[in-house]
Amino acid sequence: MGQSAAKRLAGETAAQWITSGMHIGLGTGSTTAYAIRAIGRRIREEGLMVRGVPTSSSAELLAREHGLPLCSLDNVTGLLDVALDGADEVSPALDLIKGRGAAHTCEKLVARQAKRFVVLIDPSKQVDQLGSKMPLPIEVMPMAAGVIMRSLDAMGAKGELRMGLRKDGPVVTDQGFWVIDAWFDKIDNPEVLDSVILAMPGVLDHGLFVQIATDVIVGTPDGVQVLTR
Ligand code: A5P
Repeated sequence: MGQSAAKRLAGETAAQWITSGMHIGLGTGSTTAYAIRAIGRRIREEGLMVRGVPTSSSAELLAREHGLPLCSLDNVTGLLDVALDGADEVSPALDLIKGRGAAHTCEKLVARQAKRFVVLIDPSKQVDQLGSKMPLPIEVMPMAAGVIMRSLDAMGAKGELRMGLRKDGPVVTDQGFWVIDAWFDKIDNPEVLDSVILAMPGVLDHGLFVQIATDVIVGTPDGVQVLTR
């Protein structure tokens, strides 16, 4: 089974967990896209009635294209029933690195407003220790980028300003901020790093998700594996 098929299995399984009346956080990325498309099919074919809160302009466009009724966090009384999203790395403790698509700030906001945060991955995302394969994305105010990169350097990490593809200059997030990708050798204590980076002036948020995921659905060649906190 290839990576796309594994992502599809995870995404389509998550869509089956949805029931009528739910308010759903709609994550960003290629794996969640399979879930959004499958929820759209269930709306058309089964009359499933749900509302989604998108985590990015990309998720919003896809959800509209597939007929998902949308709302904002302010339209929901209480918590969302569930938020669905992908991840770039998942540790054995179910902590995550997210943000390859630069949507991690809104993704974290929405995930924290959900009763269950269900993460959809293929097996390549499972790591023994966070930071072993992927950098940690940090969303920053443009004027703070240089200062934050120097602070990262002093911590022994290497910060790279994420540059646009098919756009000159830095990636600009949905919030109008920039993204620094911070390469750590390995992240020994995600909880401590979470607070240290959040405390840096000019940081909006970063892609470490510590103790937020409740369930992880892994699409594998042998079927679906569900990990629960
Ligand atoms: C978006 O900013 C990211 O957090 C994605 O959710 C993450 O990169 C997973 O993406 P894929 O499902 O495309 O691998």
